[in-house]
Amino acid sequence: MAKKLWGTRFPKRTSMLTDKFTSSISFDKRLAKYDILGSIAHAKMLGIQKIIPKKDSNLIVKGLNSILKELKQGKFRFDQRAEDIHSNIQDALFKKIGKPAFRLHTARSRNDQIVFDVKMYMKDEIDNLAELITELEKAILKLAKNNSKVIIPGYTHLQVAQCVLLSHHLLSYIEGLERDKSRLSDARVRIDSMPLGACAFSGTGLNIDRNYVAKELGFKSVTANSIDSVSDRDFIIEVLAALSMLSVHLSRMAEDLILWSTKEFSFIDIDFSFCTGSSIMPHKKNPDILELIRGSVGKIQGDLSSVLILMKGLPSSYNRDLQLDKPPLFDAVDTVSDILEIFIPLFENIVIEKEAITARLTDESLFSVDIVEYLIKKGVSYREAHDIVGKMIRDCLDRGKKISFLSVKELKRYSSKLEPDFKKILNAWASVSLKESFGGTSPKLVAKQLDKWGKKLQ
Ligand code: ARG
Repeated sequence: MAKKLWGTRFPKRTSMLTDKFTSSISFDKRLAKYDILGSIAHAKMLGIQKIIPKKDSNLIVKGLNSILKELKQGKFRFDQRAEDIHSNIQDALFKKIGKPAFRLHTARSRNDQIVFDVKMYMKDEIDNLAELITELEKAILKLAKNNSKVIIPGYTHLQVAQCVLLSHHLLSYIEGLERDKSRLSDARVRIDSMPLGACAFSGTGLNIDRNYVAKELGFKSVTANSIDSVSDRDFIIEVLAALSMLSVHLSRMAEDLILWSTKEFSFIDIDFSFCTGSSIMPHKKNPDILELIRGSVGKIQGDLSSVLILMKGLPSSYNRDLQLDKPPLFDAVDTVSDILEIFIPLFENIVIEKEAITARLTDESLFSVDIVEYLIKKGVSYREAHDIVGKMIRDCLDRGKKISFLSVKELKRYSSKLEPDFKKILNAWASVSLKESFGGTSPKLVAKQLDKWGKKLQ
């Protein structure tokens, strides 16, 4: 068992139950790489500053590099009974180089070390997540570009509303995802401040060079207050909040696709490779992946609230409660990565059911706003136009008639401003083409947006 980093003043051994209850190695072992990298930079700095003999500093760095190599090759054996990753690495180093290893923990505490490890981990994970989000955006963009002329009936309150381009709808996903990416990169800026040197919470009397360590490890700055450095986990909460928001977006996308893949909608076909079947109903092809994506949101929001609640009662400085920030952080990062990884190929394999969609565009209620706007352009007030069209629709529904089949005489009964030319707008293409206000669904504007995103995501 890895030797503890403390205990001399204890007159007796800690209970096995205590060891088991307090150990974090089962989850913080994933920080091993960062813990070693931090220790290498720290040991180098201690040598340069002559806080420890150069010879020992070199030996420590060599020993740590060899542990790092074992770790990369999957040969490093974690000690499942170690108190934490810091003790585990320290002990492995002692086994390699003997006594000089005792100098590594000079001017350092696990309190600043753990913050450092987590910050390094998060910077890497944010970069990975940003890449995955970009890949997903590209898959969505490709689907949009390949179907740029497809018009779908759009919904509000899940009731048929107006025509929109499918590509416009898909681009709305990219807008949200891009904001998620920028929220993560904003948070990354604040993570990029190096905490080592805060030590337990008050700094150190030894002549350390924190800027050297920060530079070695690629941090933009060093943290400016030692108490803040070990107390706060706002950087974790920020990222969890960004991931929660991202997961809400992913869930909404999943929900759209689930609806669109139903027989009732029939807008899309999800490839068999991303569906599952039923053990009792042989005919079923279920969108379980999308449902699990939607379901995962609860877990991620739970991770966020778990850290928020963890933090709310704590006094300043380090408290062991803080150990429990990692399982929710890791869970949220893993879950979101898994979702993104599967969502990308799922999107790449979606087939748009153009015929089924087109068949749905004959519903004239889709054009009600277009008729209102036609009348407004002819000088009718908005309120009157709304009433005129409302009456037309009600009569047509009552009489089982279509607006496009009304005679000129019948039309004039509703409004003298309704000329026969108005029937030209009663089709989906005309309807979307009219929406030329910036951000609207007109094919011209959407083509520009497709172009813009194509360049941006390259
Ligand atoms: N395992 C702790 C954490 O994850 C770090 C170790 C600090 N322990 C201590 N007794 N000061 O926060």
